[in-house]
Amino acid sequence: MINIAVLGYGTIGSGVVEVIDKNSDGISKKVGDEIRIKHVLDLRDFPGDRVESILVHDFDIILNDPEVTIVVEVMGGVEPAYTFVKKCLLAGKSVCTSNKELVAAHGPELVKIAKERNINFLFEASVGGAIPIIRPLCSSVTADKILEIKGILNGTTNYILTQMDTQGWDFDKALSKAQELGYAERNPEADIEGHDACRKIAILSSLAFGRNVNYEDIYTEGISKITAMDILYARKMDCKIKLLASSENIDGKYYAMVAPFLVKSSHPLSGVSGVFNAIFVKGSEIDDLMFYGSGAGKLPTACAVVADVIDAARHLNENIQTIWSEEGLALTGCENATRRFFVRVSGKRSGCEAKINEEFGEVDYIEPEEDTEGFGFVTPALAEKSFDEHLRNIPNVLGRIRFE
Ligand code: HSE
Repeated sequence: MINIAVLGYGTIGSGVVEVIDKNSDGISKKVGDEIRIKHVLDLRDFPGDRVESILVHDFDIILNDPEVTIVVEVMGGVEPAYTFVKKCLLAGKSVCTSNKELVAAHGPELVKIAKERNINFLFEASVGGAIPIIRPLCSSVTADKILEIKGILNGTTNYILTQMDTQGWDFDKALSKAQELGYAERNPEADIEGHDACRKIAILSSLAFGRNVNYEDIYTEGISKITAMDILYARKMDCKIKLLASSENIDGKYYAMVAPFLVKSSHPLSGVSGVFNAIFVKGSEIDDLMFYGSGAGKLPTACAVVADVIDAARHLNENIQTIWSEEGLALTGCENATRRFFVRVSGKRSGCEAKINEEFGEVDYIEPEEDTEGFGFVTPALAEKSFDEHLRNIPNVLGRIRFE
């Protein structure tokens, strides 16, 4: 019998217990041994719940229990998760986590400790919910040089943008529904302002490029400034607005960013709706791979965590190698990235057309569908830095969105 403990009985923690209970026969066959949940740690009590008799409030009970060989960390947040996880690894217990804040902040150190102890620190569920992406990056594509990773990495914002587009819901209604469905972080600002996607692309980039990408170095913009009017304009341009996270290796220079983009409806990412995530990985020889699936939610994410538990149980005294060096990878700023921009302006077009043309040359003007004030235009491709300089000279700008 393999005894495990679960740290945190929230959305994902209760999902982990549910998946193990529901699929215990199949899981035992795959491991070749029975998996038993011996302890669940939470500050709260759950009278009448399935975990009532195994609930503990003191982490040391788990740490000091020699029978517990695998610990699942699904508390979220950096502390106390970091302290608990590090102590577990140092005590020789493998750890499986869905916590991207923890992995983005301390991944290389925890990977190193696990390697030194010949145990495992696994984090498949930290990116893309149920989508297998960490394992492919650590094993399936290792023969190639990865050039680019680009995708929709946050289910909550994708759900919000989809509902705003298809249902005509306002931002707040879509967000509360996402929270109700268990997609959003405890603090939804992490989703909406792009911080969650930023941590995820930092993790993927570190694994793809082999050195540590500091999430704090990644330019990050969320969707809180996207309005119903932007959605209307996007439709007019045959586009969807998507929060994209990307990183690239261009001739040995590394770039990464998170921001809302206008994505043409012919692009595969435009069809990724609701809570689904999709990730493109481009390699020098393998070309494009696309990974797609449920990016958030209790049971899909819990299944990814439990798959890690199964892997850890199959490799109890053997480290599954993850290459994630502590050496930092310097990112180059995005100011030289060249692309087209959509700009929305209030007032009459006739009043500022000459100025717009003077600053940007030939632009495409977009008139809103409804009888609303203002107009939009799309610039030719130009560097971000140059775009910002010219935009400063245009009066009454309401907002701008990059084109994919
Ligand atoms: N809040 C996250 C999301 C959960 O919406 O994608 C999964 O990481």
